[in-house]
Formats: sequence, structure tokens, C-alpha cells
Amino acid sequence: RMEVTETFAGIALPGHLHTQESLGFAAAFTFRPSDVLIATYPKSGTTWMQEILTLLFSLGDARPAKTIPNWERAPWLEQIYCREALRDAETPRLLTTHLPAHVLAPALQRSKAKVIYVARNPKDVAVSFYHFHHLAKFLPDPSSFDAFLTQFLEGTVHYGSWFDHVKGWLGQRHLLDILYVTYEELHQDLRGTAQRLSDFLGCPLAPGTLAALEQHCSFSAMRDNAMANYSLIPAEIMDHSQGRFMRKGVVGDWRSHFSPEQNALFNRRYQEEMGDTELPSQWPM
Ligand code: PPS
Repeated sequence: RMEVTETFAGIALPGHLHTQESLGFAAAFTFRPSDVLIATYPKSGTTWMQEILTLLFSLGDARPAKTIPNWERAPWLEQIYCREALRDAETPRLLTTHLPAHVLAPALQRSKAKVIYVARNPKDVAVSFYHFHHLAKFLPDPSSFDAFLTQFLEGTVHYGSWFDHVKGWLGQRHLLDILYVTYEELHQDLRGTAQRLSDFLGCPLAPGTLAALEQHCSFSAMRDNAMANYSLIPAEIMDHSQGRFMRKGVVGDWRSHFSPEQNALFNRRYQEEMGDTELPSQWPM
């Protein structure tokens, strides 16, 4: 394991991708009005949204999605290579972040940049994140699923508490130009959600764009696209013998992982944390 941890705003982050300098760069970033930021807690549909927006902005031309790695198409603001990746970025710039809202809110509120927040049922997030810890050598070795779930509910995993992340970004709804999308919605109605994204972004849907988008953003197409599936990342960083980044891509996989006790505990914690949070109406969680 190449596990080195950087701590920022009380949150543990993988040290090979983050430094205090790169995190400071993100917090002080000067957004342009044309910037589009994808904000997510890990394993919530980040890569899917990167692909969808790539296809929307290319008006359905699959070439960028098939020739440029997603981390160059939509670099993570807080990661060490961001400054370099943005050097000759085209407009609109597509950016990605896993940072909590309170770190980026001041810079975003000073700008007219658009934000797309993607969330997923946290039970499925926990399952996906657990499996990801097996292949990601920059994350701690997970012992059992039960131990991981305890840490997830305590918010002591890397990237911090799911509850704080979601509540923090929901809290920006009146302060930012922000659209909330769920992973489950993308599953249920990719076309409808693409239409909603195009309205929000003011990016017209050219004839054929929806069909191309549907084809190139399907789970199987993305699983086989080396520019989206992280197979280009060397084995010291992601050990592809331990599983695939594009693992299952389904809704409700938690049902095959959670015991009834784990589910009851999860529901209790969810209620404690989210009980009086006003969730967007399309949220199925
Ligand atoms: S990361 O590491 O934070 O960038 O991960 P992220 O991209 O947010 O989440 C990875 C999970 O999203 C699934 N995925 C998809 N599901 C359905 N359709 C498409 N096109 C798709 N692309 C990515 C991916 O398989 C991970 O979920 P699990 O449940 O582990 O399969």
C-alpha cells in the first residue's frame, strides 16, 4: 500500500493526489462564469456525470470521450495536477471536486459558476466505496465490511462524512447556481436527466446528441472505454487484479451486502443525521 494521508479541513485525503498547496489552490480558485463544477461524495456517480457532460458539450461527438482521459477532461480541482490540466482548457471548463461545500462555497459564491451536485443512496455508496478500497492502493486496506460500515457511519473514512457532505452542499441551494441530480435518476431516466442538464447549462441538445449520449454513457460502453474506466492507472495505484473501477453499476446492491442489523443501524444513523433535512423531491433515498 502506498497509503499516505493528507488532512485538510478535518478530512483525510489520499496524499499522492493532494498536498496543502493543491488544496489551498482549490479553496482560493478563481471561477469563471462559464465554469461547470461537478461536486460529489466519492462513488456517487462522478465518472458518469463527467462522461455525460463531455457528450453534452461535444454535441454528441464521442471523440473527446474516447481520446482524452476523464481526469483531463474534468480535472479534480483539489488534486496536484489541476493547475497544469487547466493550462489550455477550452471553454466551458469542466471541473470536478470531492471537497465539502464549506471549503469551496466562498469562492463559488463570488462567481457565477454552475455547480452540479450528484448524490447516490448512501447504502450503495458505502458498498461501492468498500470495494474500491480493495483496488485503490492509496486508501487504507479495509478489514471487514462491518468495520468499514462503522467507519463510514462515523464519518472517519477518507473524504469524511457522507452526511456532512450532502447536508453541506444542500445548504448551498439558495446561494449558488446549483442543480441536484441523483445516481438513481440517471439510471431511471438518462434522457430526461440529460434534458434537465441541458436546460440548466444552457447547452442546446443537438439532434442526435441524446442518442450518442445514451450509447457512450451506458455502463458497458464506459466499462470498455479506457479513457473512463481508470485502466490506464498503474497497478501500484490501482490494483486492477483486485476488482474493477466499473464494478456493477446498479441500484440497490446494498441488499446483497447488508445484514438486517447493519440495515437497522444504518437507518437509525440516517434518521439522526438527515431527519429534518429538506431533500430535493426527486431523491429516492
Ligand atoms: S469516484 O471514485 O468517486 O470517481 O467514483 P464515482 O465515479 O463517483 O462512482 C463509481 C460508481 O459509479 C458506477 N458507474 C456507473 N453506473 C452506472 N452506469 C454508468 N455509466 C456508470 N459509470 C460509473 C461505478 O460502477 C461505481 O459504482 P459500483 O456500485 O461500485 O459499480
